[in-house]
Amino acid sequence: MRTFVIAANWKMYKTPHEAKRFVMEFLPLITRSLHRRIMIFPTALCLPTMLEVTKDHNLDIGAQNCHFQAEGAFTGENSPKTIADLGARAVLVGHSERRALFGETDSYLAQKVKAVQDFGMSPMLCVGESLAERDAGQTEAVIEKQLREGLSKADLQGRLIIAYEPVWAIGTGKVATPDQAEKAHKYLRSVLHELAGENVATQTSILYGGSVKPNNAAEIGSQLNIDGFLVGGASLEPKDFATIVNVSIK
Ligand code: PGA
Repeated sequence: MRTFVIAANWKMYKTPHEAKRFVMEFLPLITRSLHRRIMIFPTALCLPTMLEVTKDHNLDIGAQNCHFQAEGAFTGENSPKTIADLGARAVLVGHSERRALFGETDSYLAQKVKAVQDFGMSPMLCVGESLAERDAGQTEAVIEKQLREGLSKADLQGRLIIAYEPVWAIGTGKVATPDQAEKAHKYLRSVLHELAGENVATQTSILYGGSVKPNNAAEIGSQLNIDGFLVGGASLEPKDFATIVNVSIK
């Protein structure tokens, strides 16, 4: 059985104090479920605070990015070794903002996926097409390339989470229809099957991201191949994120 994962991507929002306040407000609002994993990806500077305030709770904390080297002369970067040492469990790799604004390529991201796994954490590899690519009928080709190349150095039997995030749905309020999302997820799972076999394809959680809100989460999450959400804007408010978590029981 695949784990249903509800993940918050806080992007460059929240100071450590604000992050702590969020956790205090959020925790009492969530109902319990065994098959659910809740993850929060705060900024790197909030990681120590978040790990401390969530340590007795069933919440996984991850980083939004890392370098692919364990150490070296890379001024301003964060090492996967340090992130793992702090106690983080996962790292987002290849969010569309990293691809578009910071020029991260598939082959560069493949090295990060490997590094995150090497330090015992789960990479959450993000893939997704732009509106122009969707309009040109290239959705499947684009996400297949991102998946294959992103995983080209990975241990395919190791820890791995995939997030499908159509670029046109991120932060726009334009959510993919449940059918559009399901079709993309099913396709990604078939590519995973080819790459890594049935077991990995069946067990790997593939999350949907892009304008997930309290009022659309249940419908999107009910699709067969959708195993959770990566939530941006709506994860910043404890009530909204808790509602998404609570409606997400499959
Ligand atoms: P959004 O962001 O929910 O605000 O669309 C999703 C993401 O960027 O991961």
